[in-house]
Order: sequence, then C-alpha cells, then structure tokens
Amino acid sequence: MRQIRIPIESFEGPCQRIDWPEAREGRPDSILLIRRQERWHAVQNHCPHWRMPLAERGPDAFDEQSGYVVCTSHAAIFQLRDGLCVSGPCVDDRLDVLDVQVDGDMIVVTEARRSLSLSFVGLSASEE
Ligand code: FES
Repeated sequence: MRQIRIPIESFEGPCQRIDWPEAREGRPDSILLIRRQERWHAVQNHCPHWRMPLAERGPDAFDEQSGYVVCTSHAAIFQLRDGLCVSGPCVDDRLDVLDVQVDGDMIVVTEARRSLSLSFVGLSASEE
C-alpha cells in the first residue's frame, strides 16, 4: 500500500495535485487532495473514462461551488464522497477514492485496498 504524508501548512487548497514519489507502470502518477467544509478527501488523478489525468492542475478538477470533481478532458462529473460518476461519458464508473487521515500537523493519504466484489458467485476477495 502506498502512502503520502503532506504537511498541512503546505496545502494549497481547495484542491491540490500531488505526485506519488514513484511512477506507476512507467507513467507519472498523482492524486488530488481536496479540502471542503473542513473535511479532507483524496482521489487518484485518473479518470475512469480514458484513464487520463482528471487535470494537470489540481484546482481545475474541483468545482468548489458544487463540491464535484470534474474531469477536464470530457467533463465527467464525480461525487466527492465516493467517486461515483454522475454525469458525462462514464456514468456509474468511479474514481479511486483514497483514505485520508490527519496525524498531528500532517495529512496522511493511503491507497486503499481494492475490493473485488464477486457477488455473482457469492465470493469476495481483496488485493493490495
Ligand atoms: S477522460 Fe475523463 S471524461 Fe474522458
């Protein structure tokens, strides 16, 4: 499981793009860290539509007024709390939502375990 620790004082909100220290599958990898109404949220900066970054710049991917995450490529709109796409070309797909904790003066973002629901055969499994 990957983790990023960010000093709260360095956050440039309401939405900031932060790079993972290492590339993934040979490509740069980043998250969007968002603070809204005193709550922290983080999602992988990957749109489920074409697996492109939601935005090159964090502020472009978040509509502070509505609280939705917006993909700058084809305008998909996602709920912040669960990453569900509610409008655009990938409705019902989801962003990868990350766990965010505050530890003293640090924000700790952790890649959640991905659950695979195999309800069609009555099984469940998980992977890191
Ligand atoms: S790549 Fe995000 S909506 Fe198409």
